[in-house]
Amino acid sequence: MDGGNHSVVSEFVLLGLTNSRGVQILVFLVFTVFYVASMLGNLLIVLTIISDHHLHSPMYFLLANLSFIDTGVSSIATPKMIYDLFRKHRVISLNGCITQMFFIHTVGGTEMVLLIVMAYDRYIAICKPLHYLTIMSLRMCIFLLALTWTIGLIHSVAQLAFVVNLPFCGANKMDSFYCDFPRFIKLACTDTYTLEFLVIANSGFISMATFFILVVSYIFILITVRKHSSGASSKALSTLSAHITVVVFFFVPCITIYVWPFPTLPIDKFLAIFDVIITPFMNPVIYTLRNKEMKVAMRRLIIRTFKFQKFFN
Ligand SMILES: *[C@@H]1O[C@H](CO)[C@@H](O)[C@H](O)[C@H]1NC(C)=O
Repeated sequence: MDGGNHSVVSEFVLLGLTNSRGVQILVFLVFTVFYVASMLGNLLIVLTIISDHHLHSPMYFLLANLSFIDTGVSSIATPKMIYDLFRKHRVISLNGCITQMFFIHTVGGTEMVLLIVMAYDRYIAICKPLHYLTIMSLRMCIFLLALTWTIGLIHSVAQLAFVVNLPFCGANKMDSFYCDFPRFIKLACTDTYTLEFLVIANSGFISMATFFILVVSYIFILITVRKHSSGASSKALSTLSAHITVVVFFFVPCITIYVWPFPTLPIDKFLAIFDVIITPFMNPVIYTLRNKEMKVAMRRLIIRTFKFQKFFN
């Protein structure tokens, strides 16, 4: 092999979403509003849950962790994308690209496993209500959270290890607004067949398997809820439908992107918008508008904050 010729490409050109001025302005407005709203909404959820002892239960702790992860999900690609929107020359360095892929997959993989943990939590609450607090103890919660981050990290590193040393020698245009494995691998000047398979086997598999596990567990929970229909179960049903909405929004784009990555579909980059912009925004919307306990707690938090201010003025 001719080592000297390798890696002459040190940065990539991101073609972005669109070059039409009118659409750029629209995209700028929509993305900025969604980004700011999901950051504020998710931070408000974390703050409300941590500060309100009425909400110190496994379900809300997991929700706070999901919101925390979502602030990460929306911050990895979106700010740079918004910043790049009106620039003629949109570039990202090789290291920037690798960093982006690392964080996207660590945080994304963690979120997937966390969704399974949240489904498990609902399963215990609904199907074994008497043992709920003994099974979902604080220790168990912390163990499960550590597990989600470990799996997310392994998932990410396992793919990255194979691509960090890929040779690039010319092609550097990526038809996307952020870096991800399918398009990144395509630009390498080597036989990428094995790598393409690896991405399908890892990212494709984890999205399909997680989606499958979630669908099966929600069907199972729904059947159980229907068997003992009561007042409590209608509340359970509304929490469940919130979870299911998030799951569908998150996984349909993921599966399209990773299970069929080669050839990469042009629609991929638009579907990715759902994962990086819309899903992180869904949580606050679903959990604050539809959950009475959350609404009451947020009101308490806001009133307390204002009283606190008056006290100092
Ligand atoms: C995540 O959950 C743990 C325990 O279940 C909790 O102590 C912690 O505050 C949560 N983290 C966030 C950021 O909400």
